Amino acid sequence: MTDVFGLSHKDPSPGSDANPVHPGRHEQVVFCADEPSGLYAIIAIYSTALGPGLGGTRFYPYASEQAALADVLNLSRAMAYKNALAGLDLGGAKAVIIGDPATAKSEALLRAYGRFVQSLGGRYYTACDVGTYSEDMDVVARECSYVTGRTPEHGGAGDSSILTAFGVFQGMRAAAGHVYGTPSLSGRRVGVEGVGKVGHRLVDHLIEDGAEVVICDVNEGAVERVARRHPGVHVVADAATLSASDLDVYAPCALGGALDDVTVPRLKAKIICGGANNQLAHSGVEKQLAERGILYAPDYVVNSGGVIQVADEIEGFDMARARARAAKIFDTTAKIFEMAEEEGVPPGAAADRLAERRMSEVGRLRGIWLRR
Ligand SMILES: NC(=O)c1ccc[n+]([C@@H]2O[C@H](COP(=O)([O-])OP(=O)(O)OC[C@H]3O[C@@H](n4cnc5c(N)ncnc54)[C@H](O)[C@@H]3O)[C@@H](O)[C@H]2O)c1
Repeated sequence: MTDVFGLSHKDPSPGSDANPVHPGRHEQVVFCADEPSGLYAIIAIYSTALGPGLGGTRFYPYASEQAALADVLNLSRAMAYKNALAGLDLGGAKAVIIGDPATAKSEALLRAYGRFVQSLGGRYYTACDVGTYSEDMDVVARECSYVTGRTPEHGGAGDSSILTAFGVFQGMRAAAGHVYGTPSLSGRRVGVEGVGKVGHRLVDHLIEDGAEVVICDVNEGAVERVARRHPGVHVVADAATLSASDLDVYAPCALGGALDDVTVPRLKAKIICGGANNQLAHSGVEKQLAERGILYAPDYVVNSGGVIQVADEIEGFDMARARARAAKIFDTTAKIFEMAEEEGVPPGAAADRLAERRMSEVGRLRGIWLRR
């Protein structure tokens, strides 16, 4: 196991996510290897200014160690910003396990990983991400006290997409309030791209609020599930058709990079607000959206309901408390839009400033000496 302090990566190559954030200095990066079980993992802690770093474990067959390192550095920094704006007393961290989860995952590997997480003494709390599930976290927890995203049978929060979708809906209400003067989505035409775990729950909230909903998904089963539940929902063939449709709101809820140089000029929607991570294909897209008068609700702000849900496990999971905290995504999103207007910057830049302000103002308090 190696600790590499103060790594500075100016120009990382992206891993599996589009639009990487550019990492600055990370507090700690730990390489963990256990040859017999095949474990090779990297844990990156970007900041503990607000508390221990929380972020999921991505299990992915990276093409190289360099690609895995670039991904974990980007993702851990993004978690610091997300957790800060979610109002959590948690810093930002993330882990990657290199390998194909379909073939490489085993009890021994997950438990070996748990022992490395434990070795950090609580500086890092892990959770699920691409390639890891609540059941895996139960196994990791057999060796480690710093695990969230566990199954309800083990006191866990279960499926985090419940509050992710709820939070996206709150962000969308704030955006509607900003653009139309009322937060109601009633009568608005909303396009949801990708009706998987998050997207189909978002459709439930929208229908309940009286919106007209248009969906698409590459998975026919996912489309049928929504169509059975809500026969009034319109279905279109693909994401390109959806994003160019006559919509009030466009909600990317599939993969990253939905907003690019091809999609943005065709958009008719006045609001972009969805659950997908890294929606902007590159940093220039937000300016293009602003120039077209389209309000973009920053993805990491509106999709933070999931991390709010799993973070609640640290106190002993209480869905009502977690839901109340996720409801505040409405206020945070509204505040970001106001700040963006006042400071003449895009909402993404305003969100980053607000997150950095909280990390610095609250993080600074550690400088007030207390007897331990
Ligand atoms: N689950 C969470 O709690 C959570 C939290 C924060 C962010 N997110 C992000 O939200 C997004 C969705 O997550 P999820 O958990 O719902 O995943 P999911 O895999 O359950 O759903 C994604 C859906 O998108 C569909 N899809 C893929 N490519 C598509 C395309 N080109 N066009 C249309 N549909 C397409 C898939 O078939 C699937 O149904 C991801 O970007 C994820 O990183 C999820």
